Amino acid sequence: MSSVNKNSEQTRKAFALTTPLYYVNDVPHIGSAYTTLAADAIARFQRLQGYEVLLITGTDEHGQKIQRAAESRGQSPQAHCDAIVARFVELWDCLNIQYDRFSRTTSDRHHAIVKEFFQRVWDQGDIYLGRQQGWYCVSCEEFKEERDLLSNQRCPLHPNQQVEWRDEQNYFFRLSKYQAQLEQLYADQPDFIQPASRRNEVLSFVQQGLQDFSISRVNLDWGFPVPTDPSHTLYVWFDALLGYVTALLDPEAEPTLANAIAHWWPINLHLIGKDILRFHAVYWPAMQLSAGLPVSRQVFGHGFLTKDGQKMGKSLGNTLDPFQLVAAYGADALRYYFLKEIEFGRDGDFSEVRFINIINADLANDLGNLLNRVLKLASRYCDQKVPTIAVGDLPADHPLVAIAAPLGQAVQQAYRQLAFSDACTACLRLVQAGNKFIDEQAPWQLYKQGQTAEADAVLYVLLEAVRLAAYLLSPVIPTTSTKIYQQLGFAVDFNDRARIATIAPFAQHAQWGILAAGQALAEPDPVFRRLEWQDVAPAPIG
Ligand code: MSP
Repeated sequence: MSSVNKNSEQTRKAFALTTPLYYVNDVPHIGSAYTTLAADAIARFQRLQGYEVLLITGTDEHGQKIQRAAESRGQSPQAHCDAIVARFVELWDCLNIQYDRFSRTTSDRHHAIVKEFFQRVWDQGDIYLGRQQGWYCVSCEEFKEERDLLSNQRCPLHPNQQVEWRDEQNYFFRLSKYQAQLEQLYADQPDFIQPASRRNEVLSFVQQGLQDFSISRVNLDWGFPVPTDPSHTLYVWFDALLGYVTALLDPEAEPTLANAIAHWWPINLHLIGKDILRFHAVYWPAMQLSAGLPVSRQVFGHGFLTKDGQKMGKSLGNTLDPFQLVAAYGADALRYYFLKEIEFGRDGDFSEVRFINIINADLANDLGNLLNRVLKLASRYCDQKVPTIAVGDLPADHPLVAIAAPLGQAVQQAYRQLAFSDACTACLRLVQAGNKFIDEQAPWQLYKQGQTAEADAVLYVLLEAVRLAAYLLSPVIPTTSTKIYQQLGFAVDFNDRARIATIAPFAQHAQWGILAAGQALAEPDPVFRRLEWQDVAPAPIG
């Protein structure tokens, strides 16, 4: 099985990545959107590079947390889930997320995959009945060690809720059996867990010795019955992680494990927040090993969006409504702020004032105004066309060429490492150098003084600098990049995911100096309007 997949991978440039499958205890908040924005930017970058991409997102709909949320709204769990799922789909559309699969853990197809996977693990002898005692955080859907709790039996991630004592018979997964294999995996694939700080966290957790974990619950209806003992309900995390597998099924395919892993397995990247690292970097690879599947390639655990230092979340009621934010400021502004201003992997505070300042400085002033100024000059002095110059004659130490020539490669490297902030900052550096250059060179004066060749050369490098920056920023701000490209005379839409790799391939467009002499330019039209303070209200609670 694994050799078939390896062979096919060598001949195909394929990249499958996942967001977490989001709990539907409540409507999405801005924190839940964060992972999905990052995943979409990577998916877009990989598509530009000619990869066949499968971006998987979806929802995690079983368990006590969801059951209680439905009860508190007086709805059946399924009706509740359906209503919340619709809000996730709507938000992904507003944020311009181009996902390929939306996996719901309540689907019948998922049930079939879970049964088959459970059977494999069962047949390995990796499931047994035992006694589970401990403190349970329903918001995390996880047992907690007493030493990790705050005073008054509260979970550090949900300090406004108490953990609950449980003492029951559960089925256990034999995680301890995989101790050596997991250690080997981390040693053989040092980049399996990223960034390095998270890897260290996992290594020290594993070094303490792995303990089996319970994968069933009693006194819980909302979930799949344990196939071998329907008086138990399957633990929500066992079921949820398998949602990634179900998502791989082609829409018409019969829901079998063989069909699910035929094309896209193993998954290249699981993007997650740091709170669910252990599930993805320890439990999940052990489950895959038990079922005889090749293990996913990489897990990246990012930080939290915080408000006054605390994780933004619905349970704490300290988050902003993403629907209102998009309606007020637009998708590209949010995408840019989150990916540029917060180093991926670290926590970052969201402040609306800072957000507006950054967007106005970078996108409206630096990028948008530069394009506008150059297009106006081209319209007045160059018949609205790209001026003809000998690009090869520009000196290598030209202030813009020196920055622009190595930019494509540097940004490619940054995206590959998920260093979105570095990618954006590098592009902005070129744009800022462009603004300085136009002021210093004053091409309008050169034209007036009849120094046309010099002025044309200035205009060309400026147009090309804006083009290159727009291209390299397109995974982050696709709609703004499209407007820039179209004003520069390209028939390119960065949101056209089926054709983008053909019409604007990375190998060509990430290079310096591709703007063709004589290409017709559009009339300047501001690509990004300055944001005005809208005072977005906190998200309603509950
Ligand atoms: N259902 C599980 C995941 C199962 S994956 C098979 C879950 N869901 S969640 O809705 O609670 O969280 C989903 C993701 O959103 C997590 O990666 C979490 O870290 C992320 N975030 C939730 N709040 C966040 C912030 N305030 N900031 C950044 N990410 C946050 O866990």
